[in-house]
Amino acid sequence: MTCDGELIAQWREEEAPLLPLLHSFHERDGYLSEDSIRAIAEGLKIPVAEVFGTVTFYHHFARETSGVKAPRVCTGPVCRFRGGPELVKSLDNATPMPCAGRCDEAVPVLEGGKIRVGQSIDTLETRPSPLPLSNPADFEECVFANIRKPGRSVFEGYKHTGGYEALAKAREMTPMDLRAIISESKLTGRGGAGFPTGKKWEVVAQAKGEPKFIVCNADEGEPGCFKDRAILDYDPHAIIEGMAIAAHATGATKGFIYLRYEYPDTFNTLKRAITDAENLLGDSFTLYLRRGGGAYICGEEGSLLNSLEGKHPFPRNRPPFPVTHGYNDLPTAVNNVETLASVPPIILKGAEWYRELGLGEHAGTKLVSVSGDIQQPGNYEIPLGLPLQTLLDDWCGGTTDGKSIQAVTMAGLSGGFLAGDDLDVTLDEPSIRAKGAFLGAAGIMVFDDTRDMVEVAHCAMDFFAEESCGKCFPCRIGTHRLSERLNGSAGPVGETAWLEEVRDIGITMMATSACGLGMAAPNITQSLVKYFPEQVAAHLNTSANSRQEQFQ
Ligand SMILES: Cc1cc2nc3c(=O)[nH]c(=O)nc-3n(C[C@H](O)[C@H](O)[C@H](O)COP(=O)(O)O)c2cc1C
Ligand code: SF4
Repeated sequence: MTCDGELIAQWREEEAPLLPLLHSFHERDGYLSEDSIRAIAEGLKIPVAEVFGTVTFYHHFARETSGVKAPRVCTGPVCRFRGGPELVKSLDNATPMPCAGRCDEAVPVLEGGKIRVGQSIDTLETRPSPLPLSNPADFEECVFANIRKPGRSVFEGYKHTGGYEALAKAREMTPMDLRAIISESKLTGRGGAGFPTGKKWEVVAQAKGEPKFIVCNADEGEPGCFKDRAILDYDPHAIIEGMAIAAHATGATKGFIYLRYEYPDTFNTLKRAITDAENLLGDSFTLYLRRGGGAYICGEEGSLLNSLEGKHPFPRNRPPFPVTHGYNDLPTAVNNVETLASVPPIILKGAEWYRELGLGEHAGTKLVSVSGDIQQPGNYEIPLGLPLQTLLDDWCGGTTDGKSIQAVTMAGLSGGFLAGDDLDVTLDEPSIRAKGAFLGAAGIMVFDDTRDMVEVAHCAMDFFAEESCGKCFPCRIGTHRLSERLNGSAGPVGETAWLEEVRDIGITMMATSACGLGMAAPNITQSLVKYFPEQVAAHLNTSANSRQEQFQ
């Protein structure tokens, strides 16, 4: 067994040492003891209270002996209807965890650094995550074009299928020309916020401070989103190549891939890919892999950077933005996995080619994750501007058992629900925003007409309440107050007063929260009230009756 001093010596001088050190102790002992936390704090010269606060913030660092082996069962919005809660009851020492990104083959169970999937104790098994489904309409793909080719996930296979040709081409070009191609392609960030990638790279290139960093955001914690997982598992070199091109375009010499804890096999895939690519990357770009500890907020770029720096992972106040003051206050381009994987094909085939992959005036493609009550759940690459109904009916085969679609979520949970006539919409940001939702990272969870939408909304708000980092009170308190009103345990039961209060809490959160989590959470209640007033009224009736019974 490696002793404390050796582990600390191994990591102390490395970039972003806290997370890997915590993981080393956690894996060695099966939990993080108080002694380990003290040793790490002393070794890295971080106050012990700070390390303790940080460790307990993450979901997956066990604090009790053998805790790492205790099953954690997904009870996210899809898994809760697929046997997740029953699995929590039937597995020894099991606890629920938020969405673990396997909504296309529910239910994932995380135990001792391994994932098993299945809907009951007898069917749980270890198996590779599903490959993206092919595109039945023969639209040309960008990101998934080569992903199904055998061997693509390893270095040699990647090279045999055209991999790293874009990097060779990029290295012949000036950084300015590279940035111009990305700007002309109209590629925008695929992590949710949709910021123009070329513009982000331009600011990093112009910013003062060395070294500069490229950070690949592979935290993918939004319930219903699992599209980055497909690239990470089956095309990891596409991300490395995208990062190396981004580095050349911005002058960055170092990079991180920040991977969510819930993808343990992916961690090994990436580790191998980075080692295999080291020679090709040379001295000009050094790449580090870091694994989170389980916290949705770490997908927010400020939190992610704080997490890397070994600080408590609160979002940062903005400005300044990471492009000028990112990792260690140095210029940093934080980009999503899909954004980076789009870069090599754009460099090879050109900006115009990419723009024209979209339909009408919409540029490019988007990966979407479809799950829930649908015949063929999975990841698809769509041309932006594709009608939602075409995706759901023609590509995904419609709902299971021929039921009708009651609602879908957009952007995972953050975009709220779309339902009724608003399902007649094309998949692109302006069209979806016109309906009051947003496409974001494009997690589409489908709910058929048998689902209780107030219960779905409650599950969603519970997630936001659990994941709120607590830094600002409108979100910390507002998510809990909304959750209580959705389960009927608190708040008015009269319809007018309930609607007014829920609306007021939502407006306050949207106006005053410090980051996207608190701003987006009320989309759930607002869209619930908009599309399902009868279900809300029935819920209030039931709450009123059950509260009366309590006092009888
Ligand atoms: C609460 C919250 C969670 C987020 N989670 C993710 C995530 O898991 N992955 C991601 O790429 N971006 C996520 N983002 C967006 C990032 O802050 C950032 O905009 C993005 O990584 C930038 O990359 P892009 O420009 O390529 O999209 C999240 C934002 C918020 C507010
Ligand atoms: S909005 Fe919520 S998640 Fe974001 S900083 Fe405030 S408390 Fe944290």
